[in-house]
Amino acid sequence: MSSSVIAIDGPAASGKSTAAKNLAKELGIPYINTGSLYRAIAWKAIRLGIGFSDEEAVCAMLKNTTVRYASPEPGANPEIEIDGTFPGEELRKSEVAGGASSVAVLPGVRSWTMGIQRDAAKHSMIVMEGRDIGTAVFPDARYKFFLTASPRVRALRRLAQDGETPDGATVESVAAQIAERDLRDSQRATAPLRQAEDAILVDSSDMTAEEVLFFMLSKIRKSVSASIEYQVPFADTDQMGVVYYANYLVYFEMARAELMRSISFSYTQMEKTGFGLPVLEAVCRYHSPAHFEDKLVITATLTEIKGVRLRVDCTVKRGDTLLAEGYTWHACLNSKTGRPSRVPGEISDLFTMGEGKKS
Ligand code: DC
Repeated sequence: MSSSVIAIDGPAASGKSTAAKNLAKELGIPYINTGSLYRAIAWKAIRLGIGFSDEEAVCAMLKNTTVRYASPEPGANPEIEIDGTFPGEELRKSEVAGGASSVAVLPGVRSWTMGIQRDAAKHSMIVMEGRDIGTAVFPDARYKFFLTASPRVRALRRLAQDGETPDGATVESVAAQIAERDLRDSQRATAPLRQAEDAILVDSSDMTAEEVLFFMLSKIRKSVSASIEYQVPFADTDQMGVVYYANYLVYFEMARAELMRSISFSYTQMEKTGFGLPVLEAVCRYHSPAHFEDKLVITATLTEIKGVRLRVDCTVKRGDTLLAEGYTWHACLNSKTGRPSRVPGEISDLFTMGEGKKS
């Protein structure tokens, strides 16, 4: 159904939204908060005076409701739009959050929301966070994470969120409220909150948001690397009989070219497609010298993609001995306009989804 979905499920206040937002930003793709869909339904029900457990009335309301994920302004991440308006911050109120958990129990509501969530993931690779994304909405999601944290940590996080808790709330009262929601979310008959068998568990109790991001990236990003063997010719050595220091940057470049060929996107092909990857920064650390006729293995690994920039790390080894290591940062340029341009999908898709371009 959708191999382009990265699902993040987990209980209330476990840090799903932060993780989804950070991950989507790092990968340069949108993210969808599916909790906002249930919150929008509760928000409308409150305005119409409809009881959260009155399934007939809630479903009748949904027949006259249009909901979609859309960007409130060009380029912004998609948010929930209900009947032509973006309720935004209104959805953070605690009565709306409680109502969302109650309407989410209703089977009629869940079958209505299923189609909306699946539609939202039709067009591109996407991060989607919720309770049942990896179990019910996208059981074949490419990556599944189940994010959790101790009840106390979650209560503290919720308290720190503006507008999420009523005045005078304490860690104990918020923890009790969260526990009540956890119980309702995990004990409902339809699509209860639970960890999918193939989901990766992330207990973020003692982790910073950045650590959670790095952990998730380490599971998603496959190492894309290539190596070459090279026997040092006399011409590469200097008066001291060792490889001249500047040649290591040439060695890095040779391994990088092999890396590009290995992903079926050689420099020549890339230039034909209208892109160039000029070097912005080069760093090399020297550990031990190489000599004439040494047999070297030079490895290049794609380690980071950030918008229009990418980084390739390189090592130069003789047997098990590391002789030099370093990296280069490259800008991706449109060679016709000379302007920075997003890293081509041939490279970024491979990096983020761990699968090569089919040649
Ligand atoms: O993630 P959140 O706190 O905004 O979610 C609000 C409620 O919506 C949550 O208590 C349970 C429900 N929900 C759900 O049942 N399934 C989802 N995929 C997302 C949220």
